Amino acid sequence: MEAYECILSKRDSRSYSGQAISEETLQGILQAGRMSGSSKNTQPWGFIVIQDDAQKAKIAECGDFAKHVPAATLVIVVVLTPGGSGFDAGRAAQNMMLAAWNRGITSCPVALHRPDCASDVLGLPEGHTAAMLLAFGYPESEESRHRGIARNAMKELVHQERW
Ligand SMILES: Cc1cc2nc3c(=O)[nH]c(=O)nc-3n(C[C@H](O)[C@H](O)[C@H](O)COP(=O)(O)O)c2cc1C
Repeated sequence: MEAYECILSKRDSRSYSGQAISEETLQGILQAGRMSGSSKNTQPWGFIVIQDDAQKAKIAECGDFAKHVPAATLVIVVVLTPGGSGFDAGRAAQNMMLAAWNRGITSCPVALHRPDCASDVLGLPEGHTAAMLLAFGYPESEESRHRGIARNAMKELVHQERW
């Protein structure tokens, strides 16, 4: 898929077909996260791959809007190491979701509202935080990818020289 088309057509989708994601594809997704830029190249992250159903169910309990997580084929939690910035985590997360979509795999970022719960389930070392959970899977259907949420008009969000 062409990069611009990949960016514009990516929707955050919560329905998955259950089709398996190959190890090669998983490694491609992780590589996209690994290659993300970060402040001073500090790479302040680790990626926890979750494929076990029981672990998916447990981590889903740590977020308020995570009902679809147990049905995801693959979950990756982006963990920030001490002092890491959310911006860096966001870059790695979006890179992985776009790399997945380029391979026909849809995804949805999911907030983990209870950090202590996430740290406990994931066994995070002191000072590490779960920045974002990413739920992945091949789409259930083309329609299931779309919730029809519009974006703000260009003229409302773009400013020239000053706000
Ligand atoms: C920081 C962040 C947190 C989000 N948390 C959740 C979440 O907890 N559960 C969920 O289902 N979607 C979550 N989303 C997905 C948003 O709902 C989604 O990006 C937005 O509705 C646009 O969706 P679209 O690209 O499919 O139009 C989150 C997105 C971001 C960027």
